[in-house]
Amino acid sequence: MKKIVMLPVWVIQIFTQAKSFRKNPILGSARLNRGGLHVFRMILAHAVMRFRMLLLARGIDKAHRQSYFENGYVLIPDFLPAQEYHALKKEILSADAEVRECTQGDTLTHRIMLDDQSLPSLPGCEEFMRHGYLQKLLKFCSGKNGQPVSYIQTIKNHFVEGPPDPQKNLHSDTFHPTMKSWYFLDDVDEKNGPFTYVPASNRLSRARLAWEYKKSIQISAQGDRYSGNGSLRLSDEDANEMGLNPPRSFKVAANTLVVANTHGFHCRGQASEKSTRTEFWTISRSNPFNPFPGIDHPWLAKLQNRAVGLYRQHLDKKAEKNGSVSSWHVIDARNTVQTENKPEESKISEAA
Ligand SMILES: [Fe+2]
Repeated sequence: MKKIVMLPVWVIQIFTQAKSFRKNPILGSARLNRGGLHVFRMILAHAVMRFRMLLLARGIDKAHRQSYFENGYVLIPDFLPAQEYHALKKEILSADAEVRECTQGDTLTHRIMLDDQSLPSLPGCEEFMRHGYLQKLLKFCSGKNGQPVSYIQTIKNHFVEGPPDPQKNLHSDTFHPTMKSWYFLDDVDEKNGPFTYVPASNRLSRARLAWEYKKSIQISAQGDRYSGNGSLRLSDEDANEMGLNPPRSFKVAANTLVVANTHGFHCRGQASEKSTRTEFWTISRSNPFNPFPGIDHPWLAKLQNRAVGLYRQHLDKKAEKNGSVSSWHVIDARNTVQTENKPEESKISEAA
């Protein structure tokens, strides 16, 4: 009965950003993927997203545009004048706002969402979000004429006992181009885990398509949890098979902006010691089959943030009923090490 009710939903999801091979039996059908369903979705989504990016390319520095298309990322050192960077960092380090925490392996990630609740006390962050070139660049890279969801994020390496952090394995977030950005407030090196990216792995080469085709059939039959959710992991053999470039570690100075297409293979990068890095972090994802880049209106940004907030609250309540706390649960920022209840296992398979 459930299958009959869900069938139209599963069919519609073929033309959305739905990516889970496990949750949608059509997307996870070995027979359909043998017929090329997964690869067909990839090719179509990449073509539509390229079209949307080109529509939003006006005013983007030519070198940045080329780097994003060819390498899958843009790197801009000294993004803000030094004085503005220091003022923004000072504000962020003393931010008094709701903090959510997620545990993945031995890493804790803390995030403060930059929305109507937090921004009134963070005027520097609000100003940064209005930065003209940053806005243009993020719109171009995400192929979306709208605001990304923005956070202050701190990665806390080796802060808890646990297995290795799964986000430190190279992976692709999803089957279509999708944007994340990091404006680093700390110097980043091997001590605090530099963001790592395989240059040019954003491109749909013949080798990549052949690999994706094979993987889609394998995962439909049986895959690891993260790959089954549509966030494909990359082994050394996979990289060799596709002839990929070696990964690049972004060991960068504070005040560097990195924007990446996280369809390309990336990860958090290993940290050699107990350490943290803090960044202004954004994410933008939209239906890659929709050829329209959308409308930029403050109300839509508010609505988007509100939807994310309500979803988090829904997960909080759901977890509470089970005597647990959600994977991204609110913590007392003054006590950032652990909560009393064991958090649910994170379902976020792709943060970096
Ligand atoms: Fe990721």
